[in-house]
Amino acid sequence: MSGLFDLSGKFALVTGGAQGLGRMIAEGLLDAGATVAVTSRKADICEAAAAEMSSRGRCIPLPCDLSSPEAAVDLAARVREASGGRVHVIVNNAGKTWGGPVDSFPDKAWPGVMMVNLQAPFTLIRELLPELDAAASADDPARVINIGSIAGKTTERLSAYSYSASKAAIHMLSRDLAGDLASRNINVNAVLPGFFPTRMTAHMRDDDAVDPKLLAHIPMRRLGRAEEIAGTIVFLSSAAGAYITGAEIPVDGGVVGCG
Ligand SMILES: NC(=O)c1ccc[n+]([C@@H]2O[C@H](COP(=O)([O-])OP(=O)(O)OC[C@H]3O[C@@H](n4cnc5c(N)ncnc54)[C@H](OP(=O)(O)O)[C@@H]3O)[C@@H](O)[C@H]2O)c1
Repeated sequence: MSGLFDLSGKFALVTGGAQGLGRMIAEGLLDAGATVAVTSRKADICEAAAAEMSSRGRCIPLPCDLSSPEAAVDLAARVREASGGRVHVIVNNAGKTWGGPVDSFPDKAWPGVMMVNLQAPFTLIRELLPELDAAASADDPARVINIGSIAGKTTERLSAYSYSASKAAIHMLSRDLAGDLASRNINVNAVLPGFFPTRMTAHMRDDDAVDPKLLAHIPMRRLGRAEEIAGTIVFLSSAAGAYITGAEIPVDGGVVGCG
């Protein structure tokens, strides 16, 4: 088992890696030995986060707002330069949501959510294919991990229509790409978080007390922890996860599996 989860010498990109779930993931990858590039919309937040995480390993700040395909192309160019031409792991984690009642759910709640959650990840993968190819081998494939959501798998009644549709779409996109890229030794998987204590779920918590109705909905009766999302991503990025592609992996205390 020695070295099974070791990521020394690997280069990983985590979009939205300065905060929230992305930060948990970036820290896990750094602890496993990878060099990690993280993004955030604000340059000062991105740089401060990377500086803080540098105590764990080499962490590179790449500020960017993924609100357009052009921004994803630009980010890919900076990743190309920072990585020296080999990208072993891409974690498409940056995500945007919008909630509102169905009767007044606005048209403007669609394009931004679909761009950040679906199209930008695709553009980033497409642009970085040469760098994934350069890092990939039959024994040790390159890895793309798309962060979906249980909201794209079950009806969570969140009134987040564009969000849940975008997440269902990225699950399918992951499987499509997995099929097309398996022969190039690039594994593509979707990880489906349940409820984790980040900004995105802040409205479900009150001073860290979790809504009892939410807890009753989760078979394990608690939120997810940082090491549980980080551990799943490290596993999928490592030798231990090399034979897994085209999978949708819920990390959700049983919401999907026991539903
Ligand atoms: N928390 C949960 O329970 C949960 C459950 C299921 C799925 N997820 C998924 O997990 C991922 C991370 O979410 P989170 O829970 O950590 O929520 P969060 O704290 O709101 O973080 C969202 C992340 O996305 C980035 N982001 C948002 N809009 C962006 C844009 N236009 N361009 C570039 N980056 C952008 C943010 O970066 P900056 O703010 O730093 O710019 C931040 O890192 C998302 O894909 C989300 O859908 C979370």
